[in-house]
This record gives sequence, C-alpha cells and structure tokens, in this order.
Amino acid sequence: MKRVVCPGSFDPITFGHLDIIARASGMFDEVVIAVLVNNTKTTLFTVEERISMIAEVTAKFPNVRVDSWSGLLVDYCERNKISIIIKGLRAVTDFDYELQMSQINLQLKGVETLFMSTAPAHSFLSSSLVKEIANYGGDVSNYIPEPLVERLRARLALVNGGK
Ligand code: PNS
Repeated sequence: MKRVVCPGSFDPITFGHLDIIARASGMFDEVVIAVLVNNTKTTLFTVEERISMIAEVTAKFPNVRVDSWSGLLVDYCERNKISIIIKGLRAVTDFDYELQMSQINLQLKGVETLFMSTAPAHSFLSSSLVKEIANYGGDVSNYIPEPLVERLRARLALVNGGK
C-alpha cells in the first residue's frame, strides 16, 4: 500500500490545495493531509478548525484523511510509515524553497518529495491572498469551497471586530 502525505498550514484550504489532493488521491492508495503546527506562525483558524474544514471538503475522497502534527515533517512520515511527500509547485518562485526543503527531508530521513504542477487556474492562489481579499470584502468564492466562504467571513469579522 502506498501512502503519501500532503503537508501544509491550510489556513484555510483552497481550491489549489484541493486540486493537488484530488489528483494525488487518484495516484496513491492513501493520501494523508497533515496540518503542520508552527508555533512561530499566527493562524486565523485553530488546528482543530482547519482539520474540521479539510475533513468536510475532502469527504468525497474515500482514500483521503486528515491529521495534524507538531514537529518535523520527516518524523511524522517515519511514525506513520510514509515515504513520499507530495507538494504542489505554483511557479518558479516556489521552487528554490521547495527544493531546499525536499533535499533536507531526503537527507534527514530518506523521505522523497514528489512535485506536482499546480493547475494553471490556481497558479496564483494562496491562503494568504484569499485572506487578504476576504479581509477587504472581496469575493473569494472562486478560491475556496463554498462552506468555507462564510466561515472565513465570520472569522475575519470577529478578529476585526470594532476596527
Ligand atoms: O502551507 P505551508 O505553510 O507553505 O506549509 C509549509 C510546511 C508546513 C509544509 C513546512 O513548513 C513544513 O514541512 N514544516 C514542518 C517542519 C519541517 O519539517 N521543516 C523542514 C525541515 S527544517
């Protein structure tokens, strides 16, 4: 059985992430979406909220599940018998950083990274941009699944409350 991991912050998950996950689910027996906890990074949604949102929008894929991890990704892979990390590459600007990460992960624990090119329709998309658009009242329904649009709007209203 070939199990792979799609790691990320997913704050929130976008159609770009979902495109990679859907394509990976057709190629491997099991795809684990790992929400990585980074204590130095402020997120809009808690880990539990991100897991719940991801589970909701990936429920149609029987071989996809969600998990979280605080620590090195390669340690998660080792513990869960995962030898391949799947990463989406949007543009050449992603490449330097992703190459460095893939080489570190290979050297640390022999974990391979497979890069999938992001579908052109999503090549500009990031969770940060989605949050920025929503923060200024823009329409993000083309970028994140419908059930998340209202959750994002409500969360931004809460954090911006009174401003
Ligand atoms: O969605 P993101 O924020 O671009 O995802 C980046 C992520 C979480 C995949 C990356 O930061 C990561 O793998 N973090 C875990 C810590 C780790 O293993 N770092 C690499 C070795 S120093």
